[in-house]
Amino acid sequence: MTGTELTPGTEWWRTAVIYQIYPRSFADANGDGMGDLAGISARLPQLKDLGIDAIWLSPFYTSPQRDAGYDVSDYCNVDPLFGTLDDFDVLQRTAHDLGIRVIVDIVPNHSSSDHGWFQAALAASPGSEERARYTFRDGKGDNGELPPNNWESVFGGLAWTRTTDPDGTPGQWYLHLFDSSQPDFDWDSEWVREQFRAVLRFWLDRGVDGFRVDVAHGMIKAPGLPDYTPPAEGGSMGGAPSSILEPGITAETPLTAPYWAQDGVHEIYRDWHQVLAAYPGDRVLAAEAWVDPLSQMAKWVRPDEMHQAFNFAYLETPWNATQLKSVIDDSLEAFGNVGAPSTWVLSNHDVVRHASRLALTGDNLQGHGIGPKTVGLPDTVLGLRRARAASALMLSLPGSSYLYQGEELGLPEAVDLPDHAREDPTWFRTNGERYGRDGCRVPIPWEAASESFGFSTGAKSWLPQPAEWAGLARDQQDGVADSTLELYKLALRLRREHSLASGTVEWQGGFDPAVAAYRNGDVTVVANTGSASIQLPAGDVLLASEELVGRTLPGDATAWLLTVQP
Ligand code: GLC
Repeated sequence: MTGTELTPGTEWWRTAVIYQIYPRSFADANGDGMGDLAGISARLPQLKDLGIDAIWLSPFYTSPQRDAGYDVSDYCNVDPLFGTLDDFDVLQRTAHDLGIRVIVDIVPNHSSSDHGWFQAALAASPGSEERARYTFRDGKGDNGELPPNNWESVFGGLAWTRTTDPDGTPGQWYLHLFDSSQPDFDWDSEWVREQFRAVLRFWLDRGVDGFRVDVAHGMIKAPGLPDYTPPAEGGSMGGAPSSILEPGITAETPLTAPYWAQDGVHEIYRDWHQVLAAYPGDRVLAAEAWVDPLSQMAKWVRPDEMHQAFNFAYLETPWNATQLKSVIDDSLEAFGNVGAPSTWVLSNHDVVRHASRLALTGDNLQGHGIGPKTVGLPDTVLGLRRARAASALMLSLPGSSYLYQGEELGLPEAVDLPDHAREDPTWFRTNGERYGRDGCRVPIPWEAASESFGFSTGAKSWLPQPAEWAGLARDQQDGVADSTLELYKLALRLRREHSLASGTVEWQGGFDPAVAAYRNGDVTVVANTGSASIQLPAGDVLLASEELVGRTLPGDATAWLLTVQP
C-alpha cells in the first residue's frame, strides 16, 4: 500500500524542506517512554501545519539499540520498540495523504553484531564466504594478539575487536569504525551488494520516496587497510581538519583517511541510482558524507549518483557574516557545477542543537557533545536568538533545507543529563570524556501541562526532559505571534509563496561587515550577525526573527523584506 500518489516528475527534492524525525524521541503512543511509529502517525497533521514537504525517519528497524538503532539486525522489519510493518504502512499512507513524502534511513556501512549475517560469519571459519561479507583480518604479533592496524573508532577506542573461536581460543579480528556492536561490511563482496539492492527494493516496493544513506563516505576502505593517524584537528567523521596548516600537519599528511571517501563508493551509488530509477516517481538518495571541501562532497551528487548530500560545511560555519557568505557561495558553486541543488542544515541527531551551538564559546565542541562540565557553555538567550536568525537565513536560501525535530520550538541542547541516563556509545567508549549526542536526542515537548510534556501517553521519557522545556512546548507556541514555531511557519509559507527555494543569491553591498544581505527574487534577506543594530533598507518587512524598532534590525537577527525595484 503506498497511499495517495504525489505529483510525479517534479524533482520535488530540489526545493523541499525535509523534517528529520528521530523516532525514539518524537511521540510515544504506547506509553513505554520510547517514541514509536503510531506516535508519529498521530502527530503528522501538526507537521503538515508547520509546512514541511517531507519527513526523514531515523532508523526504526529491528535492532538491539546499542547505537540507538544505527545498529540494524534486520533491515526489512520494524523493531517491536517502534511497532510493526503495518504501523509503518499506516504512517506512510497518512503522510502521503497529507502530501508529505517519506524518506527512510539505510545503514550500509555496518550491521549490528546481532545480525544473522554476522553471527553466521562468526560461526564460520577464517577465509569462508560468510566471513568475506565483513572485514575480518588476522591480528599482528606472534599470536595475532595485536590489532591488524592502528585505526580508531569514531566513538573512541580501537576500531577492531578480537573474536573468540568456537573452541574458546582467540580468533581473528573484525573492523568496526563505530561501536564494537557495529561490524563493517566488506563492500568488495558482490553478495553484500546484492543484499542491499534487495533492501532498497523492499522499501521502494512499500512506497518510500527515498533514503538517507548513513556514513555514505565510509563503505570502501583503501586496499591493504594501511595505518593512519588522523590530524588532531580533523573531525572524527572525516573531512579535512579545519586548520590544515597547524604545526605538525605537513603537505604529506594525507587529507583523506583510508576508510573515508574512497573512490570505490561512487560505483555503489551509481548502481543504487539505477535501482531507484526503475521505480516511478522521484525517489531520492541523500548522502551523509562528511567530506571536505564542498567540491569533493559534490562528487556524491553527480547526475548518475545520489540526489542530495547534507551540507555539513554549512552546519559547521559559525554565526559570522563573512564566513556564511563564503560557505553559501561555495555551496551553490560546488553543487551547481554538478547540477545538484545545495542543501542546508543546522541541526541533526549527531550534533549539538544550534540553539546552543551558535552561542558556545569553547572550541570545536560540536561533534563531541556538551555536558555539565563543558567549558564555555552557551548563554541560552543569546543561543535562541542566534538560532532564530540562522534558521531564518537558512530557510530563505535556494535549494533544499533539512530541519531536525524540535528546532522549530527553539529547543536547546539538554546539558544536564544525569550520567546514568546517558546511552550514546561515545560516552561509554571514552569513559565519560566525551558526552556524546544524548543532549540533542531528548524527547520533544508537545503540551506543557501533560506528563512527559505530551511526548508520551504515559509519564516516562527514555531521556529526562529539562523542566524548563514546559515553556517551549508546542502548545505554548502554537498561534502565539513571535514564537519560534510561528517564525518557522511563516518562513516556510513565504518561502513557498516567493519561490525562494528555486531562486538565486545576489549579494547586496553597502552593509556593515557583520551583515550578510542578499536578494532572492522579490525578497531581500538581511542577516545581522553582529551585536550592534543596523538600519534596514527600504521595503515592506515580511518576516523578522526579532522585534524591529522602526526600521532598525537589532543584533543577531534576520529580516526578510519585499525588494524595492530600483
Ligand atoms: C551516522 C549516524 C549516527 C551513527 C553513525 C553510525 O553518522 O548519523 O547517528 O551513530 O552513523 O551508524
